[in-house]
Amino acid sequence: MVALSSYIYNLAIFMMTSSLPFTILFLLLSLTPILVTCQLFDDVPTGHRKDYIVFMGDKPKGYDEWAVSSLHVNIIREVVISDEPPTGHILRSYNRTFNGFVARLTEKEAERIAEKDGVISVFPNRINQLQTTNSWDFIGFPTNVPRSRLESDIIIGVLDTGIWPESASFDDTGFGPVPSKWRGTCRVTPDFRGCNRKFIGAKFYYTGPGQPVLTARDYEGHGSHTASTAAGNSVSGANLYSLGSGTARGAVPSARIAVYKVCWPDLGCSDADILAAFDDAIADGVDIISVSIGFNDNRNYFQDSIAIGSFRAARQNIVPSVSAGNDGPLLLTIRNFAPWLISVAASTTNRRFLTTVILGNNQRFEGWSINTFNSIQATLIFGGDAPNTAGENSLNANLVRRKIVVCDGYTSVREAQFGAVRTAFFAGAAGVIVNGVFQIYGDDVNNIVAPLPSSYVIDNNNAILAYIRSTSNPVAVIQKSSEQRNTFGPYLAAFSSRGPSPFTNSVLKPDLAAPGAEILAAYSQASSVSDVPGDTRVAPFNFVSGTSMACPHVSGAAAYLKSFYPNWSPAMIRSALMTTATPMNSNLNNEAEFAYGAGQINPTRALNPGLVYDAGAADYIRFLCGNGYSNTQVQVITGMRNACTSGGSSRELNYPAFVVYASPSQPFSCDFRRTVTNVGSATSTYTALVTAPQGLNILVSPNTLRFTSLGQTATFSVNVRGTISGGPRVVSASLVWDNGNSQVRSPIVVYVS
Ligand SMILES: *[C@@H]1O[C@H](CO)[C@@H](O)[C@H](O)[C@H]1NC(C)=O
Repeated sequence: MVALSSYIYNLAIFMMTSSLPFTILFLLLSLTPILVTCQLFDDVPTGHRKDYIVFMGDKPKGYDEWAVSSLHVNIIREVVISDEPPTGHILRSYNRTFNGFVARLTEKEAERIAEKDGVISVFPNRINQLQTTNSWDFIGFPTNVPRSRLESDIIIGVLDTGIWPESASFDDTGFGPVPSKWRGTCRVTPDFRGCNRKFIGAKFYYTGPGQPVLTARDYEGHGSHTASTAAGNSVSGANLYSLGSGTARGAVPSARIAVYKVCWPDLGCSDADILAAFDDAIADGVDIISVSIGFNDNRNYFQDSIAIGSFRAARQNIVPSVSAGNDGPLLLTIRNFAPWLISVAASTTNRRFLTTVILGNNQRFEGWSINTFNSIQATLIFGGDAPNTAGENSLNANLVRRKIVVCDGYTSVREAQFGAVRTAFFAGAAGVIVNGVFQIYGDDVNNIVAPLPSSYVIDNNNAILAYIRSTSNPVAVIQKSSEQRNTFGPYLAAFSSRGPSPFTNSVLKPDLAAPGAEILAAYSQASSVSDVPGDTRVAPFNFVSGTSMACPHVSGAAAYLKSFYPNWSPAMIRSALMTTATPMNSNLNNEAEFAYGAGQINPTRALNPGLVYDAGAADYIRFLCGNGYSNTQVQVITGMRNACTSGGSSRELNYPAFVVYASPSQPFSCDFRRTVTNVGSATSTYTALVTAPQGLNILVSPNTLRFTSLGQTATFSVNVRGTISGGPRVVSASLVWDNGNSQVRSPIVVYVS
């Protein structure tokens, strides 16, 4: 690579990754080649090496895995000066569909590698976190929906904590041979005897300093839960200690599951491993990639393994379905928001669990929790009367043992679950009553199973404490939870991350909502149902809440559509799911579309969307270029050089949603262009129906679209204009293309801030 382009190239990369002095140092080095000596680059002790991902784009044409991996060895040989052989520095090669590797390097070595011809980006490996019986029925997707013959050819790749092979959800009785397109493998280990015709592949990836048991077996439960929600068999009589009894099933019970274990107990999930799993899943021939993993921080698309991997998947017609994150309810908390993936938020269903508390004076409280324990009665004690002198927030075990502890002072269920509930359990209490958890959303449903009898009550008058003070022998009963109707559902769970997208805010994110609160699905029997140390209860099915649970609902729904329309692009599938989604109520979630996207998925309706908004790699590239990303940056995602021939504004991305940014009381006018493809009936005429609140004028032109054949496209423009006072607020409107049979609905969102 010639000096000049090398220098420009590196500047672009390092501007994003390193401090300014580092950039200046690099600039100096680039301008004064004579200084570039081995000493200078090897001045950091070897002990300071850490793991970097070196991304080099697509596998070069005509190269086999061996040839690709030898490129990597050559780079290390040229750059790294050490006693170890070059292969000792390479932790992993991406050699199946990508070209790249993970290596243990010093910062200087990483810097030098970034300088190499063909290297697109170098970034440190970081560790990411993992983020039912009635949920499918609730969203209008009963067991007897029409099924495609091709369903059993669909393969869903699940990047997660592995699988519990013995689960009834993954039994292969009645399954035909593995689809012939499958190119994957199954890693057998002493604790994992192999795959079957239901879960047809299993691999694991671990790059890092820890020493987990290397196996595809799920020791946590998360991966079995997500895989069974997407594609688990129908298992009747599923329940957790008789709670939530019903048939547990995935959207596509005949589809196959391919397991890519990238997350490890206590060690998280690393970029290096996520990218490796994408490389394999794409080469293995999966149709859908389901990723319920999120980052703790927002990164740009070029250092985000999920964004990079998803782009490549989408380009191969594989649908990337990803969880939005559990950092809600504030705006701008979304974690996975690249325009080429489906970003999924978590909603509630119409079910909730209530747990009754009865005091000795017969006062009753209907609290909430998932309490699987049979009714208990015990002496009540106020937590404040039993402090442990050893530390704050802890209880004196001698005083609380075998009693029901009453705790207050928590601001959210989640905080209480990790505070009061665990503390009481560890201190040997018989039960715990948490008073006054004031969620931002009132009684938010995001329970996890507790290790001891528990209930979260609202006792504004402190009647429980008054009762304790009124008698020498205060007692209470905590009953087992009972299943109730949640009449407000669906609304978005408070924990679900909200948009708008922090980088490209004119693309609506999240895209969709799906059930993610108190979902019952398959679980690992190596992990207790509460996941609290000391709880020994294990069960084949368990309740879990999170956007991690919402994501596989969309992965399953996408698989369902794919089984009918194998040639649809990921954007067409997303469009069908978005335009047919059930709109949700902004009175229950003020963030409106930034909370739930186009609404709650309705896979049955999505089967006949009428029109779809398609987009492909070229559109995303134009979008990135038009958003100020350089050729070099776009190359990281796309692997294509000089991709930016022309740019489009992000408003021009052919998305089935419209987002406008406005200032309070300032007039605005925004134009959009969109193209729809006819996938309904060959001859049909659609009329534009606009719903908009006061202050908003929306003009669609033309307002009639005529189609005479399938696959025909039509282009229209939308002008959104108006003046809105107050803010920050989210103002919702919509455009529906209606031909009498199909209503193709797109949200129009004005964000006033
Ligand atoms: C391709 O990469 C994998 C993963 O690092 C590695 O195990 C394999 O040996 C590589 N293939 C070749 C032919 O070097």
